[in-house]
Amino acid sequence: MIILGIETSCDETAACIVKDGREILSNTVASSLALHTKNKGVIPELAAREQLKYIISVIKKTLNNNSREKPEDLIDAIAVTIGPGLIGSLLVGVETAKTLSYLWNKPIVPVNHLIGHIYTNFVSQSQKNNINFKKVFPAIVLLVSGGHTQLLLMAGHGKFKPLGQTRDDAAGECFDKCARLLGLPYPGGPAIERASRSIQYKVSSMKYKLPRPMMDQNNFDFSFSGLKTSVLNQVQQYNNLTITKLVPRFAYEIQEAITDVLVFKSLKAADKYPVKSIILGGGVAANEVLREKFKKEINKNNLKINFFAPLKEYSTDNALGIASAAYFNFQPIYWSKIYADPGLEVI
Ligand code: KG4
Ligand code: ZN
Repeated sequence: MIILGIETSCDETAACIVKDGREILSNTVASSLALHTKNKGVIPELAAREQLKYIISVIKKTLNNNSREKPEDLIDAIAVTIGPGLIGSLLVGVETAKTLSYLWNKPIVPVNHLIGHIYTNFVSQSQKNNINFKKVFPAIVLLVSGGHTQLLLMAGHGKFKPLGQTRDDAAGECFDKCARLLGLPYPGGPAIERASRSIQYKVSSMKYKLPRPMMDQNNFDFSFSGLKTSVLNQVQQYNNLTITKLVPRFAYEIQEAITDVLVFKSLKAADKYPVKSIILGGGVAANEVLREKFKKEINKNNLKINFFAPLKEYSTDNALGIASAAYFNFQPIYWSKIYADPGLEVI
């Protein structure tokens, strides 16, 4: 089955064609990130207007890349992100997808953006890289994006049990806000990762070590707002010149604190539940320190679990997981009954 995926939940306008939920035939992502970097964050109204500018050309490029056939001859179904996300941005993708479903008379599947992040783990350019789902489920899923931080038990396709989530800021949000405190650009995650690479000695020499919030609590919840406040308190003790010199050290410590908590709680969940794998999803999954820490801890503890992280370039928003999730959870809904839902949750 060939699915056209469409994703417009935030500042990326993305479309793709995926065969049987796994094989990438075409993939296009346009981003208005440069505009948001200038504004030091995403301004929803501007993001939605940019979505409108890009959506048709992104879909056209995705379809043309692939074949001279008419789209309605090539595509079996359409998948679209309905939430969570920014309402203006979501509406652009949802209404475009509904129009195409009506015009081409193709089934349309509404998809949760966060579930899409999970399924980007299962797509590939090569037919041969087929995932054996017997080695995947049940799985612990760590979703870490700009707006969400959540631990889930995934028993199989579409079968989720929530284990915990952040009580305040998301991990990505914490990266973004801490970066801002250090004068680093938006998005903060990649900026902090870059800045921390230039540190010479990978040992803590901060006056005060940053906290690892909620690590000692017997639950699977997270909290990142205290970490951000701790960074703010320490930054305020230095003048601007000193801060500029200390940026790599702060960046390194922030990244260590956030990734320590994420890995610790995920492994704790994998210890409590008999799972075959840990699956990472969401923009923060692009972080190499996070990925390496997972692999190191799994090896160090001799855990017999597989670890899945999407390719770095597929970690941030794109349509691949949307098309894949639609294939493995194929529940089309008549186009006129599909609505954007900015506050949509996984369960
Ligand atoms: O999933 P995503 O692209 O958009 C949302 O659905 O929110 O996630 C964006 C978040 C931002 O907070 C960004 O700073 C973070 O992902 N991010 C990273 C990295 N790349 C993106 N965080 C840490 N390290 C990275 N390399
Ligand atoms: Zn996302």
